Amino acid sequence: MAQARDQWTTRTGFILAAVGSAIGLGNIWRYPYVVYDNGGGAFLLPYFFALLTAGIPILLLEYSLGHKYRGSGPLSFRRLSKKWEWLGWWQSLIAFLISGYYMVILGWALSYTYYSFGTQWGSETQTFFLEKYLGAADFGSFTPQLKVLIPVVLLWAFVYYVMRQQAHRGIEKLARILMPLLVIMLVIITIRGVTLPGAAEGLNTLFTPDFTALADPQVWVAAYGQVFFSLSVGFATMITYASYLNKKEDLANSGLVAAFANSGFEFMAAIGIFGALGFLAAQSGVGVDEVVNQGVILAFVIFPQIINELPFLNSFFGVTFFGALVFAGLTSIVSLLEPAISAIRDKTGAARTTVVNWIVGLAALMSVLYATDGGLNYLDTIDHYLNSYGLLIAATLMAVATAWTTRKVGELQSHINQVSDVHIGKWWVICVSVVTPVMLIIMTGLNIRTEWL
Ligand code: PFF
Repeated sequence: MAQARDQWTTRTGFILAAVGSAIGLGNIWRYPYVVYDNGGGAFLLPYFFALLTAGIPILLLEYSLGHKYRGSGPLSFRRLSKKWEWLGWWQSLIAFLISGYYMVILGWALSYTYYSFGTQWGSETQTFFLEKYLGAADFGSFTPQLKVLIPVVLLWAFVYYVMRQQAHRGIEKLARILMPLLVIMLVIITIRGVTLPGAAEGLNTLFTPDFTALADPQVWVAAYGQVFFSLSVGFATMITYASYLNKKEDLANSGLVAAFANSGFEFMAAIGIFGALGFLAAQSGVGVDEVVNQGVILAFVIFPQIINELPFLNSFFGVTFFGALVFAGLTSIVSLLEPAISAIRDKTGAARTTVVNWIVGLAALMSVLYATDGGLNYLDTIDHYLNSYGLLIAATLMAVATAWTTRKVGELQSHINQVSDVHIGKWWVICVSVVTPVMLIIMTGLNIRTEWL
């Protein structure tokens, strides 16, 4: 039996849920490291280029598809053209697969929120993380690590509780509570970061341009990857969320608000974090480069070290930082699950709770695998392939499907303009039909060349 579609209570509820999806681990843990790795200040140029030529246009494309066709990814694409339904499934599958390891990193963050009380990690933070926490001594086994598993299970139980409710009672309410708290926590982190001695050195590292990096295609690939992941576009999430928005609500304005809120948050977090990294470098008498050059483990090895060194309120700032990661990640993980849940409900007409039992159950099982040493080995690789191929290809095909094979991009533009205060012009059509797909094809080509040829 067909059921009524879930619906956000207000447009603000929709924007909060969308911003909640966008702001996540990507902003606090991934962005600063990616910026540093890709030429520091010079990264800003490719980043904005990617944001304006691909991120925002595709975000609006997803909004218009979901809002006009009123369906999850597969249903919206089917209504666009039967041939493209599979693309919605592909996108929802990628989001679902990401949720498995995303939750494990969230689990680490929850453990570290707890360890922040009394800075339980001690002075050897790297040994603590790798040996005491992950238990990497017998690396390669698939035995779940209890210390990692317990927070993951707790978080899944909570996410299950949220997801069983209709979107406006679960996801929207979660965003309404957590987003304001997150903003306060971000302000605390940023102010603390920039007022520490040595902060200027860290900020110099973040903002000093290295223009030679612009000639490196990998820097551009990284910028596109970061913009998509961070804005949550290309995963059918925004199609799904927009399909829950009242038929007459504004789209263009909401899209711009969401995009700029996300980037604003990203910059503030980066400023606070690099300030703190400059402080640590000054304390340890080494260059900022040496401190930052830590990759994935940055947040869980270097931050505890910074927190140890703070002059006062160490535990408070620890809880604020790791708690912010947990809050930001929670409103994102629900948005990684919703595309699949909504897609299956649209296809089968099954009740929300039945589908949630399956999807959350399977995702939770997947994350148990990542919570083992062996699974951890694959986390990086799977993240890389899903994001660089799965995602870039999906986004390219979205542009091809709407602009080239069905030629509906003009209709979608009129749809946006009918409901929105801000009218979007020809630039959008040009971006979606030419600039975005051409850039994405070049990016994917470059990726393949560097990795396979
Ligand atoms: N945007 C989230 C982050 O920055 O952490 C991650 C994410 C959520 C990606 C939802 C994709 C998605 F559909």
